[in-house]
Amino acid sequence: MNFDFTEEQLMIQQTAKEFAEAEIAPSSIHRDINAEFPHEIIKKLGELGFLGMMVSPDYGGAGMDTVSYVLAMTEISKVDASCGVIMSVNNSLVTWGLETYGSEFIKQKYLIPLAKGEKLGAFALSEPEAGSDATNQRTLAHREGDFFVLDGIKNWITNGQNADYYLVMAQTDVDKKHKGITTFLVEKGTEGFEQAKKEDKLGIRSSDTCSLTFTNCKVPAENIVWEEGKGFNFAMNTLNGGRIGIASQALGIAVASLEASIKYAKQRKAFGTEIANHQAIQFKIAEMATKVEAAKLLTLQAAALKDAHKPYVKESAMAKYYASKISVECTLEAIQIHGGYGYVREYLVERYLRDAKITEIYEGTNEIQRIVIARSLLSEH
Ligand code: CAA
Repeated sequence: MNFDFTEEQLMIQQTAKEFAEAEIAPSSIHRDINAEFPHEIIKKLGELGFLGMMVSPDYGGAGMDTVSYVLAMTEISKVDASCGVIMSVNNSLVTWGLETYGSEFIKQKYLIPLAKGEKLGAFALSEPEAGSDATNQRTLAHREGDFFVLDGIKNWITNGQNADYYLVMAQTDVDKKHKGITTFLVEKGTEGFEQAKKEDKLGIRSSDTCSLTFTNCKVPAENIVWEEGKGFNFAMNTLNGGRIGIASQALGIAVASLEASIKYAKQRKAFGTEIANHQAIQFKIAEMATKVEAAKLLTLQAAALKDAHKPYVKESAMAKYYASKISVECTLEAIQIHGGYGYVREYLVERYLRDAKITEIYEGTNEIQRIVIARSLLSEH
């Protein structure tokens, strides 16, 4: 696979890098400590076209490819993984799904402002009893004339408090099990739809996560995305692309921890020389760099396959599984290289570890990724 980036891809990467360093980095520690949502930054990311990167310009998007998305996501997440996940959800789980499966009405009314970054989206699949076991949906929706009435609870929703539009999976025909699940676009402010208090998290603290409740909540039937009974397929197909976004986020954190480790190892002295001169440190850095490179290649491979309209289910699961696993490993090693300094807030590596851990959990745990990989392999052979 050829990864000679085009001039346009390199320009997008450079723009993301410069924006992250100039506009995101200065407030990242403050926002992490105070669990503060980056409203201004997200607005500016929208203006740069980074919230609807892969959406066609006809629908307000930037018309870029998935490889560019990986490059931009990695640069943003390298500086702040909270901004990374907010961007990833809007791009991969919301706008991609609406452009691929939404009606013209939905695209005109909802996709355009989402792709322009004027509105923010969220994706509501998980429930108290339906996490990995996502077919076990308990949120119900029944038809009443031109509306559907939703009742249920959703959990762990990224952008849960700050989104304007929510893609909500609900069971419209219980007897049909996962083939009776439907996706609805629900606007914030709809009667019967409430956002609960945000979760107090270990990492990605400046992105908000909360549960949602639907009580006798009436949603117009025209807000069904794709068609009745296609909601589970919608969620799975969308998550395949989402996993490329989370792999890029995990990769960005791993790159940050590697770069911080190299910088520190060349400054810190022990036993009369910089610790970079000790083989114990060199071996750690070599291993981290090799893992980062492998994760980068897997992630770019999944993105390139998606861009070429070739199957990428297995490859996106591999990218997400591997990048998140090595992200946790690299951030742990970064702390070890920094010693006591790695354990305090002054050096960013403790946050890198806290941020990395969630990438092994959301958008399909790494146990689920291995199920997806194994099932793909077993059905191929
Ligand atoms: N891509 C496309 N379709 C898929 C798929 C994939 N990766 N995985 C499963 N499917 C399809 C199957 O083909 C099948 O479709 P049909 O019935 O139409 O043929 C259907 O889904 C059911 O599949 P299974 O029979 O294999 O169902 P299962 O219950 O045995 O396994 C699962 C399904 C793979 C475990 C699935 O439930 C899953 O992926 N779970 C993880 C859910 C997840 O990723 N949640 C993340 C929540 S979002 C999040 O974290 C958001 C956030 O805010 C950051």
